[in-house]
Amino acid sequence: MELEGLNPLDPAFRRDPYPVYEQARRERPVVRHAGLPLRLISVFRYEDCQAILRDAQRWSSEFPIAQQIRIGADAAGLPPASMLGTDPPAHTRLRSLVNKAFTPRIVQRLEPRMRAIAGELMDAALAAGGEVDLVQALTYPLPVVVIADIIGIPAEDRATFKRWSDEAIASLGLVFFGGLDPERLARQRRLFDEMRSYFVPLAEARRRAPREDLLTGLVLAEHEGSQLSHEEMLSMLVLLLVAGNETTTTLIGNAVLELIAHPEAEKRLRDDPALVPTAIDEVLRFSSPVQFDPRRATRATTLRGVEIEPGDYVLCWLGSANRDERVFERPDVFDPGRTRNPHLTFGFGVHYCLGANLARLEARVAIEALLARTRRFERSDDAPLPLHPSPVFRGVTRLPVRLVPA
Ligand code: HEM
Repeated sequence: MELEGLNPLDPAFRRDPYPVYEQARRERPVVRHAGLPLRLISVFRYEDCQAILRDAQRWSSEFPIAQQIRIGADAAGLPPASMLGTDPPAHTRLRSLVNKAFTPRIVQRLEPRMRAIAGELMDAALAAGGEVDLVQALTYPLPVVVIADIIGIPAEDRATFKRWSDEAIASLGLVFFGGLDPERLARQRRLFDEMRSYFVPLAEARRRAPREDLLTGLVLAEHEGSQLSHEEMLSMLVLLLVAGNETTTTLIGNAVLELIAHPEAEKRLRDDPALVPTAIDEVLRFSSPVQFDPRRATRATTLRGVEIEPGDYVLCWLGSANRDERVFERPDVFDPGRTRNPHLTFGFGVHYCLGANLARLEARVAIEALLARTRRFERSDDAPLPLHPSPVFRGVTRLPVRLVPA
């Protein structure tokens, strides 16, 4: 790679990518990678990332799978592209089918149930003596129970969802760095088969006996004609189940880690809980769960002197854009009271995160429950925490803490 230190598969870079980002923004804001199976360009400045994400015609989200994996792959058995991997107008159609379930008003209605779940999880953690892996105890179960409720699938199956999520996410983004091999691809295909066997009977059940849930909505959309094919419906369910979980789990975990690293910020929140929402957005900016967002060029262009050909892939480094000194005041300071905070962590443009309202509320509810039920929380050991296997994510998969009850 042409930028020293930029190696998204290297744990040292992943633990602290910010000095590399800073240098990249200054000296090499657009850089072409060398020695990779794909033609890949990285983009580090806010302005450039935003411009790319804004323009879905020039910068496509459709990634031809065979080209991605360069093994002449047979795409049979893999899910059709979800809304995340389609461009308008196909994207517009898919998104409109689920949009309604995620409006601020609908999400707001979930708050009491979210608070009850977060409270129960915290009580259980404290009852167990307060030394827990917070990922298992709180940050993973909360989002999964909520999305299972929205879709209308049994939350008791959450251990299965976790396994799927882990499996699906482990491969995410690896394709860009040559890490997606035929064996992983075969695992993905098996995974999708397993999800298909899970969802098909549930969908059939809703067709026979409709309920007030998203699954019923999708089944009816499928039933009503050409709106949604069966496989598209599966892709949608997989996307909703997986996209929102790991990201939100990571956000809550990163929030806890930042509060541990910045005791003065924790104190500010305890003194003034009304600051929790801005603090969550600051975590989203400062310690973004998603580090990059990929696109594929549809036409030839030049970006800051780097020539780009149609079919080239670009990575918009959100984690870097969010620290861009041209946009944010004191970008390397974690300020839970930051009010002007137009971070790009939920993306930008037509693919702007469908679950942004939901994720913000879940994180807020989780942090409020943690603050309200504890006097203090701290790491219970200082061993390095295990990082997510996917280079897209920045966060930990285990977070042992000691909770001191309020
Ligand atoms: C902290 C939590 C989250 C983060 C950081 C996050 C991040 C993102 C980002 C960056 C995108 C844009 C991808 C692109 O431009 O191609 C996106 C899209 C999406 N997110 Fe999230 N997300 C989070 C939580 C959620 C939740 C809770 C859901 C629940 C349903 C969700 C569902 C989706 C969906 C369906 C899309 C695709 C939207 C589209 O293609 O139009 N996300 N998310």
